[in-house]
Amino acid sequence: MKKDYSQYFKKPSLQEAQKRGKEDIQILHDAFHIPSEMIHIGQHKFYYIRTYGCQANERDSEILSGMLEMMSYEATDVMEQADVILLNTCAIRENAEMKVLGKIGDIKHLKRQNPDLIVGVCGCMAQEEEVVSRLLEKYPHIDLIFGTHNLHRLPELLKEAMFSKERVVEVWSKEGDIIENLPSVRAHGTKAWVNIMYGCDKFCTYCIVPYTRGKQRSRLVEDVLEEVRELQEKGYKEVTLLGQNVNAYGKDFETPLSFAYLLEQVAKTGIDRVRFTTSHPWDFSEDMIDTIARYDNVMPYIHLPVQSGNNDILKLMGRKYSRESYLELFHKIKERIPHCAISTDIIVGFPNETKQQFEDTLSLYDICEYDIAYTFIYTPRDGTPAAKMEDNISLEEKQRRLYQLNDLVNEKSKKANEHFVGQTIKVLVDGISKNDDEMLCGYSEHNKLINFKGNKDHIGQIVRVKITQAKTWTLDGEEVES
Ligand code: 5AD
Ligand code: SF4
Repeated sequence: MKKDYSQYFKKPSLQEAQKRGKEDIQILHDAFHIPSEMIHIGQHKFYYIRTYGCQANERDSEILSGMLEMMSYEATDVMEQADVILLNTCAIRENAEMKVLGKIGDIKHLKRQNPDLIVGVCGCMAQEEEVVSRLLEKYPHIDLIFGTHNLHRLPELLKEAMFSKERVVEVWSKEGDIIENLPSVRAHGTKAWVNIMYGCDKFCTYCIVPYTRGKQRSRLVEDVLEEVRELQEKGYKEVTLLGQNVNAYGKDFETPLSFAYLLEQVAKTGIDRVRFTTSHPWDFSEDMIDTIARYDNVMPYIHLPVQSGNNDILKLMGRKYSRESYLELFHKIKERIPHCAISTDIIVGFPNETKQQFEDTLSLYDICEYDIAYTFIYTPRDGTPAAKMEDNISLEEKQRRLYQLNDLVNEKSKKANEHFVGQTIKVLVDGISKNDDEMLCGYSEHNKLINFKGNKDHIGQIVRVKITQAKTWTLDGEEVES
């Protein structure tokens, strides 16, 4: 039975988005369709998509591309050439949002030159009521706003925007169903993102994601495996299993399943490389460590965000683990999977973070010697509990802390990279190196970017590279005979 969508034609509400209902999520395998009048609508026309934010957004953009190409549009990298422009936005921090608003400003003159141009804004910013009100008020050249739960509705919404000549806003605040079998045009030919779940129920106090991406919904094991097998048949060498919190995979099923189980099933397909992201330290089970250790094709690299090294701050952040329990997990992983690369995310300047509390983050960093860290200055996000906390730390002080932390991050990254000098390691060749036409580049099993002298015919293959030099962010090397 077809769903009546008219009830959903509305703007978002963060309060609604916060609710977690008991209603069953439906998994629909045939819900996507393209209205007949839209199938040829894009003939001789171009689309341009700009993606901000995380891999979930990258994957969503592949699906947006798939839908647009099914409507006969062709991709372009030149925004000025496009007939449809979509900005797939991120709401995680203020600067992510500022970038998007700047870009929307840039598009204004294009709309003046071509009134038939359709400008759409989707993704996480579209889930925020303040943002949508501001976009509607200040940017009359936006034709279409749709949310993360409305992605599959693009053909209908585009039709509405084109034929009604009205602005179209469709943002469901609460998560929708899981829509399977959406078309997609993948960004790479050898590496692929595979969603295993949507949404997040963790509600860390600083984070907007549980509001913008909704309740946790896991895809069925069969559907994930079918996608991986299909990719493998097409020659893909690597899949990255995606979720905001992959280790909570399957906990939302009536009969719960674990991520370790799914990971093992994916490893058993025999695809060359399996990665996953992101892991929350809270749900990281012994079984998961065991599975990563046992399967050669599960890559020895884990992104394990710690956010802070201080227990009081962790508590205020709602992270539900302590410095001690994090370190215990960290050491367990390193013992069971020697040389496992581990990266992290850290927020500095959480409301009222003292110098001593920040020092605890530095000392934890010193212990863990991460391969890499993504570091951020805290920014309040409307609707989250932390945004209501008063904050007595100046921006200058937060910036100082960020620089100090980044110095340590660089030092430890270089040290972690030096470990590989002299070793021969496996690299999946992505293509020609960005800074040097004569070099190739690709990623090692530990997720290090390797620039190396090698055979161009090997692009797309896994080759052996002898590492000759370590830099802070990358390694140099030379391909050796397999
Ligand atoms: N301010 C700063 N950083 C944030 N992150 C999430 N929310 C915020 C915020 N409000 C960071 C966290 C998370 C990463 C994806 O972004 O470190 O792990
Ligand atoms: Fe940004 Fe988070 Fe949305 Fe990803 S899920 S696009 S990081 S706000």
